[in-house]
Amino acid sequence: KNEISIGLLGLGTVGTGVAKILQQHQQDLHHKLGVPVTIKKVLVRNHNKERLSSLDPNVFTTDIQEILNDSSLDIIVEVMGGIDGAKKAIEEALKSGKQVVTANKDVMAEYGHELLKLADAEKCDLFYEASVAGGIPIIRTLEDGLASDRISSLMGIVNGTTNFILTKMKKEKMSYEDALAEATKLGYAEADPSSDVDGVDAARKMVILSSLAYSTEVHLDDVLVRGMKEIQDGDLEMAEKFGYTMKMVGSSKKDEEGIEVSVEPIFLANSHPLASVNNEFNAVYIYGDAVGETMLYGPGAGSLPTATSVVSDIIAACRNLLMEVNGKRMHSAQHERVIKPENS
Ligand code: NAP
Ligand code: HSE
Repeated sequence: KNEISIGLLGLGTVGTGVAKILQQHQQDLHHKLGVPVTIKKVLVRNHNKERLSSLDPNVFTTDIQEILNDSSLDIIVEVMGGIDGAKKAIEEALKSGKQVVTANKDVMAEYGHELLKLADAEKCDLFYEASVAGGIPIIRTLEDGLASDRISSLMGIVNGTTNFILTKMKKEKMSYEDALAEATKLGYAEADPSSDVDGVDAARKMVILSSLAYSTEVHLDDVLVRGMKEIQDGDLEMAEKFGYTMKMVGSSKKDEEGIEVSVEPIFLANSHPLASVNNEFNAVYIYGDAVGETMLYGPGAGSLPTATSVVSDIIAACRNLLMEVNGKRMHSAQHERVIKPENS
């Protein structure tokens, strides 16, 4: 192979960041991989929209099949969002032998188990690092870094929008509405921000993290979800008065009785490390039998932080493509990991 060609589905907040990193780090990536990585086609909904990207508009299309049917493309990067269309695109891409990278937690939380099995059957990669906690390499940490350990619980701030809103309301006395409008303007919120503020986005991320942490299938229905509307007038002031901070926290634990997963606004003592995670930042606490406590912290939403994870997945997919020997892929350890029900 003397070049790796990418089809980018979506050129919004995340897609623009991906294009920017691939362009600005072009030389470094070429040096790392030995071949250039080039975006050949880009799916957009509206051809006439003004773009922040410097990509040549000649590569834009509004026809997804033009990208999915293009056999010259090696990797499909799904950053368009939504569930049904994105799932269908990922399936089609995998079935035609393409590597897939997605930032889509909605699809991975609902259909991740099924899609990872399909990827395995098709001997293709499906990477999804950006689906949880933006720029924090939390998926790889659970899959690889802590593969040796038995994880008993997780606790984290995994939604940047709600954390941004709560921070602005506390520190700048901003109204809920203004803070949400700013989070939307900065590209943190989902296309439909109700999934952020109702806790569903965080619940989906907790489904993905818990499935990986406990090597089992956790479903959205298994998660207790309480959104920001549970926060009463005066709660933030009351918390402040008594040395607490209100945070939207995802928790999950596994013990002999089973697995419990929840997302809800809670009062955290100011001495708790999660209490000082502010703005769009995320953090995930992991408790492992052997490692004890470990915490990952970083930007949880936004264009470039999220794109960093997407491009790292692209690099992983490129490496696997370049490892193909005589038409047979040498699987990486990561590729072999498929979430399986515990007793299968
Ligand atoms: P976005 O800004 O709304 O961008 C979506 C892009 O996809 C746009 O370029 C849009 O085209 C295109 N698109 C959407 N549906 C389409 C369709 N049916 N046909 C053709 N083009 C379509 O979304 P985003 O914030 O980049 O998020 C993308 C994905 O990443 C989502 O799954 C989201 O949950 C996930 N994610 C986002 C963040 C973040 O911080 N924003 C972080 C982690 C993960 P137009 O530009 O023409 O409208
Ligand atoms: N809307 C999401 C958030 C984007 O605010 O965390 C990152 O997944």
